[in-house]
This record gives sequence, structure tokens and C-alpha cells, in this order.
Amino acid sequence: MLTEHKIILGSSQIMPELTDGTVQLMVTSPPYPMIKMWDSLFAQTDPIIAALWQKLEAGSQEESVRKIYDAMHNYLGKVWQETYRVLLDGGIACINIGDATRTINGKFQLFPNHSRITEICERIGFTTLPYILWKKPTTKPKYKGKGAFLGSGFLPPNAYVTMDCEFILLFRKGNLRKFPPHDEYRYLSKFKKTERDEWFSQIWALKGTRQTMSELERRTAAYPDEIPNRLIKMFSVKGETVLDPFLGSGTTAKIAAQNERNSIGYESDPNLLSIITKKMNQFDKLVAKYELIKR
Ligand SMILES: C[S@@+](CC[C@H](N)C(=O)[O-])C[C@H]1O[C@@H](n2cnc3c(N)ncnc32)[C@H](O)[C@@H]1O
Repeated sequence: MLTEHKIILGSSQIMPELTDGTVQLMVTSPPYPMIKMWDSLFAQTDPIIAALWQKLEAGSQEESVRKIYDAMHNYLGKVWQETYRVLLDGGIACINIGDATRTINGKFQLFPNHSRITEICERIGFTTLPYILWKKPTTKPKYKGKGAFLGSGFLPPNAYVTMDCEFILLFRKGNLRKFPPHDEYRYLSKFKKTERDEWFSQIWALKGTRQTMSELERRTAAYPDEIPNRLIKMFSVKGETVLDPFLGSGTTAKIAAQNERNSIGYESDPNLLSIITKKMNQFDKLVAKYELIKR
């Protein structure tokens, strides 16, 4: 089946290109709040966050940290709100997110991004569904939030649990989707029993992305193809449309084409266009239309 793809270079906090209730599935991985690699993106796009970091550097403590965390989630929340608008009744939103740990001015703490996003999405009107834990190959346990476990890591009570899972949060807008009996495309999209048993269990043990990526690609923190591959097959039907509001290197759009789904991707960093196009070209035989919109 031939597919159509739209890449919009601009912020997904507003999606005027999309009509209400027209998208069946959203699959994405946003910049993670309170993870260092995304600090500058949040600060550049939101002057309030930049000002709060400056205040923090000048010495003001916990209140500023809390406000920075809130502001980062307000930034992402605008995208979840727009996603809710463009999804059709019964549409599913899948959000890959990691929690963050960080020591700020000597204080170690966890920033539970997954619970904050769940709270915000529920307030928007989404129904929360059982989530998936993406278990990454285990990294070394940490002591006091940094470095490897030292000898004293064997003594209670000051060691921390290693964060070796990320979340794939699942939400539904409205009611269960309805299809006519024996809908042709739905039946063409059927998965196998082994796939169903593995994909619909709560823990996915998957490796991260290749280490052979370019520097630019590495900076997008691309997720492995297998994540959108499973989610797209689990929650959409061939010929439907998948939205990724944080497209990064274009993984979701590529995997949508591979699985005979259309895609719409938003990306605010124009430098990523060449990588996105390269990924899409791998499946150009399945692509009937490729539209690029520069805001
Ligand atoms: C974690 S990366 C996505 C990685 C992607 N899943 C992949 O496999 O390449 C998040 C991306 O969101 C982009 N971004 C951040 N804010 C955005 C916004 N408001 N609108 C569109 N893209 C945004 C960043 O530039 C970054 O490329």
C-alpha cells in the first residue's frame, strides 16, 4: 500500500496544519524534562525557564528547581493538548519518556516525568491505559547518584536504585474505536499470536539505538525502530495516519512508511531535515507523496 508523509518544520505546540479529529495514532518521545542534554532546548524556547536557571545559579534553591520542572512540563503539555484535539474518538497516544535524576546544588532527587505527564494528560481529558516499561540493558548501579557503586554501596541505607527502565505511556481519547464487521484493512493489519503475547506484556527488554550514528543523530536521542514498529502495529490499521510531534531523526515516519501507514511529523530543529529525508528514502518505494512544510 502506498503512503503519504508530511514533515512540518516548526513547533508542535500549535498544529494549525491539522484538522480536529483526523489522526488515529500519536507515537513520540519528547525532550525529557530535567535531563541535562535537553536543558538548552527548553531554555531557548522558553525565556521563563532560562531566567529561572539563572536565578538558580545565583543561589536561590528549591523553589526555582520546582518552577523549572513545572515550566518544562507546561511546554510539553501544550503539545499533549494539541494532540488531544487532532486525535479522532478512540485514537491512542503513546509517549516514550524517562524519569530524571539530578543533583542540583548538592541535593539529589528524582523528577518523575512519567507521573507528571500522566497527570497532565488526564487533566486534558485522556483516559490512562496500562503502560509499558522499556527495560534497557542494565547499567552499573549508582551510589549517591553518581559513579559506580563503591564498597559502601553494600551498606544501608544511602544507595539508590538504578534507573534502567523508561516508560511508554498509553492514553486513549474518548471511546473504543468502532469498525464495520470484517473491515478489510483491520484484518490485513492482524498481528500473530507470538507478537500479541510479547507486545502486550508490560516489560519490553530492548536494546537502545546503534552506537554508529552521526553526532547530529545522537543528539536527537533517537529511539530504536522496534518501539514505533510495535506501537504502530498494536494501535493503528494499515492506511491510517500516525503523528509524531517530536520527530527528531524521523524514526516514527520511517517505520510508519514501512508498515503502510501515513505519517505527520513536527520537528523544530531544521538541521535534522537531512537525516529525516535520508531515513524516509529507505522506504521510498512505499511513499506516494512526501510533503515538506517550512513555517
Ligand atoms: C527525543 S527527540 C525525538 C527523537 C525521535 N524519537 C527519533 O527517534 O529520532 C525530541 C525532538 O523534539 C524536538 N522538539 C523539541 N521541541 C519541539 C517542538 N515544540 N516542536 C517540534 N519539535 C520539537 C527536538 O528538536 C528533538 O529533535
